[in-house]
Parts: sequence; structure tokens; C-alpha cells
Amino acid sequence: MCGIVGYLGKKQAAPLLLDGLKRLEYRGYDSAGICVLTPQGDLDIVRVVGKIAGLEERLRARPLEGSVALGHSRWATHGRPSEENAHPHTDCKGGVVLVHNGIIENYQELKEGLLKRKHKFRSETDTEVLAHLFEEEISRGNGASETAVVSSVRRVLKQLRGAYSLVVMSKKWGRQIIGIRKDCPLVVGLGAGESLLASDIPALLPFTKNVVFIEDNEIVLLREGRRPVIFNGSGKAVNRPSQEVPWDPLMAEKGGYKHFMHKEIFEGPRSFEDTLRARSYEENLEALLAEAAIRRQEIMRLRRVTILACGTAYHAGMIGEYLFEQWAKLPARAEIASEFRYASRSIEPGTLTVAISQSGETADTIAAMKLCRKTSASVTMGIVNQIGSTLTRQTRGTLYTRCGPEIGVASTKAFVAQLAALYLLVLGIARVRGAIAPVQFKEITRELCEIPNKLRWVLQETEPRVMALAQEFQQAKGFLYLGRHLLYPVALEGALKLKEISYIHAEGYAAGEMKHGPIALIDSEMPVFCLAPRSSLIYEKMRSNMEEARARGARIIAVVTKGDRSLDKIAHQTIVTPVLKHEEFEPVLAAAVTQLFAYHVARLKGLDVDQPRNLAKSVTVE
Ligand code: AGP
Repeated sequence: MCGIVGYLGKKQAAPLLLDGLKRLEYRGYDSAGICVLTPQGDLDIVRVVGKIAGLEERLRARPLEGSVALGHSRWATHGRPSEENAHPHTDCKGGVVLVHNGIIENYQELKEGLLKRKHKFRSETDTEVLAHLFEEEISRGNGASETAVVSSVRRVLKQLRGAYSLVVMSKKWGRQIIGIRKDCPLVVGLGAGESLLASDIPALLPFTKNVVFIEDNEIVLLREGRRPVIFNGSGKAVNRPSQEVPWDPLMAEKGGYKHFMHKEIFEGPRSFEDTLRARSYEENLEALLAEAAIRRQEIMRLRRVTILACGTAYHAGMIGEYLFEQWAKLPARAEIASEFRYASRSIEPGTLTVAISQSGETADTIAAMKLCRKTSASVTMGIVNQIGSTLTRQTRGTLYTRCGPEIGVASTKAFVAQLAALYLLVLGIARVRGAIAPVQFKEITRELCEIPNKLRWVLQETEPRVMALAQEFQQAKGFLYLGRHLLYPVALEGALKLKEISYIHAEGYAAGEMKHGPIALIDSEMPVFCLAPRSSLIYEKMRSNMEEARARGARIIAVVTKGDRSLDKIAHQTIVTPVLKHEEFEPVLAAAVTQLFAYHVARLKGLDVDQPRNLAKSVTVE
């Protein structure tokens, strides 16, 4: 959940790292800091509590000089947000400096040992313990040769338990930087005469699209004028080709929108389209299955599907559950990853396990997938956005959602792209199993490819009315979101969006469940968002739910199908979405309306839409 960066080259490093940290601020933003190796060989640090803007101000007042540096933006896990707890951290003598993303699980016992060895601590963090351990091992080491550096690093790593990506510098190492990765992301950027390290790709984009992903338990050494060297868990140098990242810096910029979230909602159609690209037709089926790394004979032997995810990704997984059962006639179950881990569920032979995650770094999802990998009974795959992320190395295959970096903490275009990937996967599996005939496959796929344009229509045509509704309801004390069947997960997702960025309590509910309790909440002060597209088989039932709510004074915002005027009298306001042939695609369009609504309410309330309080973009702790 933190952003870490490193630079070694010929330019003044601090301004470059500041820009890189700004691009990572969505990963965590309660404190920040940068350290440079000065031309005199000293380590010079500036740290602030609060956002990157505060660091920028401090650096303006006191510039740092040096072209080897590291930096950090923090989302606190150990120790409250404060200047003392801000990274970078150093050892007592200030000879070693480092930044860290993750959690050192055994830091307490390590700290006790260090205290006994007369080390003095300044912070409450687990990270500071690492600086002292490095200081000890570097002092034991002999010099700054590649071998000496790597062996002292490995002696430290042997003592650690937990998840970490680290960037480390030492006065004794001179113009060299070490990057280390275990269960938290770290990527190298290869520039012209310069090398960079970052926890996430957007920080590298202004310098290079040429990246190398560091794998777990690997160490990377950045050195003057030479290509970085990667060492594996046994200290052997490994040769890893670089990859061209298909993202440009602009994609990670706001592109003229006030907030990343608004931009990303409008990127939904393109994300859906890109995720379908060259995968959706019969002739692409082989390639699709190859990406998912699932063989035809395995598909024929499948007996059930387990979907693992958290938050918004879990809501996409719930829709996937319906799709697998409806189209592929396969029993399916979407599991909240943090619950699945402790349930005593056995993974039966013939199970396809699909993990869904935008970041590919969500600790609960990774841990749940690790559990499934323990048995050979399960074919594992991921639906992931972040290229090269941890989850993509936990599963046999990955169907990437191609939505580019999602910067806003509230997930929007990634959700839409996850649905696109699920449509592709389920249709492909259903086709192979003969659960849907070629003609039906073609007909459904045709409408699938029309969804991006229907989504564009929804976003463009409904936004003015949604903005007016956001104006009217921005002071609401609470909200109920009701949906049935495929729209029930959308009700949950709509409620999550509203609460996580506008801080208004909102509850998503299966509409049929309303009369079993929640209806007691309904009065004129409890607005109700009803998802009632005509094509869904549950339309009539939704209508009566709306009448029950209306009879108790609720003001209802209803998402309805274009041309359906029959709900006008019951709803306070209706928002129309295009007619669809297949109800399975309704969630994409209805979700877009709820995303816009949540965004405009939070915007009107003047809240920090892209970086809502208490949240981080990627929850890499359990
Ligand atoms: C989404 O708006 C939330 N920020 C959160 O629920 C998120 O979906 C969840 O943490 C899962 O993240 P992932 O997709 O990166 O695994």
C-alpha cells in the first residue's frame, strides 16, 4: 500500500522522484520522504507527514542535491502517520537508508535483539528495524563489490518474515542502489543512462516504457552506467528480458478531468473494448484459452468454479457466478477471499479457481489463491489488471483486463473490464463444453461487442440527470440500493461506491429480502436506488418492490430500460439505459449509472474523490 521509488543516473534525482511519488500517491498518502546520496557521499533526507504536496514545499525550501536517491509515500501499517514514522528510515549512524512497502511480521523479535546490541530507535515502525539490520550486515561485509553487497543483503533477508519490497542505499556502497522483492511489487525502469525502481508502473512512465519485473525473493542491483543485475533467491545472477509497457504517461494523467475517478468512469467503454480485443470471436477462442492457460480437456472435466476476490472485484465475481451457471451450466461460487481462507472448504478435483483483482497485490486474494494452489485439484487463473503483479505469478494463466493504470482508489473501469473478461471466459468455456451452440455463441458475442458503445451512450446521455440527482441527494443520511439476480451484485457495488467516496452510509440489498427487515428503514429520508431494467426476468418483482418502498414514502431513483414508462409514476426519477437482448449484460450499464452517481455526490460534497480517507488503492496487508 505504499509507493516506493529509486533513481540512479546523471540527473538531479529529487525532482524526478517527487514526480514519481505523485504518480504513486494513490498507493498511500499519509506521509512521504526522499533521500539522496550527495556528491560528497553523504545521505541527505527530507520527510513530511501528510501528502506529497508537503514534501514538494519542503524540497522547494531546501533542495536536495544528488543523482542517486530513493523515495516513499506511505499508507501506515505500523506506527501512526508522523514525521518520525515517515520513510526513508536510517540506522543509528545514518550510514544506511531505505524505504519499504509491506509488513515485517517478526520485527518485534528482531528489534529486541537489536536493542540488546545497543541500537537506538527513533520510530515505531517495522521498517526502521531493517535499517539497523542492514547496518550490521554491511559493517560485517567487506567493501562495495557486487558480491559483498549481495551477500550482506542476503544475510539480512534470511532474518526476515513477512512481505516487503525494499529500496536500500548505503554510504559504503557509493553510487549503487539495491531493490528487493518478496510478496510486494517492484519493477525496474530502464532509461537512457539511468535506471529506476518503483512499486508501480505509473512512476516510471515519464522516463521509460521499458521495464523489468522483479520476482519474489529476488534482489536487483542498480549500478553506474550498466544494466541492472537481478539475483535470484540463491544469489545467482539471472537474465530477464525487459518488457514494453503499453501505457503512456498521459494515461496516468487526468486528461482534463477534475478527478481520476471521473476520467476512469469514462474510460470504462474503452477498457471493455480493449479487454475484448482479439479475444471475443470463435477464431480467437484458442488464443483466449491459451492466455487463461486452460486446456480443452480440462474444460470438459470441469465440475465447478470458485471465484476469489475482494471488494469491487468480488462484486464482479458474483456476476461471474451467475454467468457460469447460466451460460456454461457449471456450478459456481464467488467467495470473499478473506472469508474463504478460513472456511473449511475442500478444493475438489475438477475445480476452476479464478482470482479477480485489479492490482494483483491484494493480500487476501493472493493468500486464498495460494491455498487453492496447494491442491492439484484446481486449475487456477487470474483476471488481473496490473501487469506483472504478484497474483499473475500465483496462477497458471492470466486474462489481463486491459484498462491501463486505475489511479482513483474507487475502482470503476477495472470493474467494467473485469466483467468483460468474465464474459469472454464464460462464453469460451460454455462454447467448448457445448453448453451454448455456435449460433447462440455468435449471437451473444455480437451483442457483447456492442456493449462499449451502449456504455458510451449511458455515460453521455444520463450524466446530466445523474448530476441533478446528486445535487438533490448529496445530503442524504443513508441510501438503500436494491437489485435482484444479476443486478443484486450491482446493488452491492453501487452502495460500496457511494459509501467509500462520499462517506454516506449506503447498503446494497437483494430486493426480495427488503420485506424481511430493511423495509423498516424506509421513509421519506431514506432514498432508494432501484435497478429495474426491463429485460431482466425479475422485472415484475422489482416493480412490486418499488411500490412497497414508494408506499412508505421513499424517493426512488430507478434505472430502467429506454422506452419503459410504466415505472415513471412509482419512481421519483428514472434513468434510462439502452434496450438489450441479453439480460446478462445489464450489470455493465446499470453499474455505470451508480458509478456516476457516487462520483457526483462526492464531488459536490467537496471530498477527496481520488484519495478517500482511510483507504488505499491496493490492500497488500491482511
Ligand atoms: C473498490 O472501489 C475498492 N477500492 C476495493 O473494494 C477494491 O475493489 C478491493 O480492495 C480489491 O482490490 P483489487 O481489485 O486490487 O484486488
